[in-house]
Amino acid sequence: MVRDALPAGPVTRAPLDENSLAALLERFYAKARRDPALGPVFAAAITEESWPEHMARISGFWRSVLFKTGDYKGNPFGAHLRLAGLTPALFGRWLELFGETCREVLEPEAAAALQHRAERIAESLQAGLFFRPDRLG
Ligand code: HEM
Repeated sequence: MVRDALPAGPVTRAPLDENSLAALLERFYAKARRDPALGPVFAAAITEESWPEHMARISGFWRSVLFKTGDYKGNPFGAHLRLAGLTPALFGRWLELFGETCREVLEPEAAAALQHRAERIAESLQAGLFFRPDRLG
């Protein structure tokens, strides 16, 4: 289903709240799963049956980050460390698609603010994943 159609886009761009966040995440992961670069990474790690569970964890993560709901107890760094084949280029593509989705779903200011948060989180994940002391200097 996810591969056939994107969820219909909203007619008007929304302020950021729990509803628009949920719509945004559905839309983003539908795109990410069918992206030629990102899709295979998700397909290798998450089975069709476990997508609802993955979406619930991701939603909890973002609700905790944005609305301080505290309903995420996890370890994003460890989760990505286990994934084979993550590269800075893939993070670039992730952020590109995320930003595009933010602009489709949210008002411009909210879209820019959320994209900024995602960029900061991606930076810190990548600092942990790709830091190579042997390549300094
Ligand atoms: C190249 C870019 C990325 C790819 C391909 C990717 C892929 C994945 C995959 C496959 C998982 C599931 C891992 C598992 O359950 O074993 C995961 C988990 C997760 N990802 Fe990403 N991810 C990327 C970047 C990001 C970024 C930039 C964020 C946040 C801004 C993020 C947030 C999360 C969170 C919160 C989880 C759940 C961790 C947990 O299990 O508690 N990801 N990601």
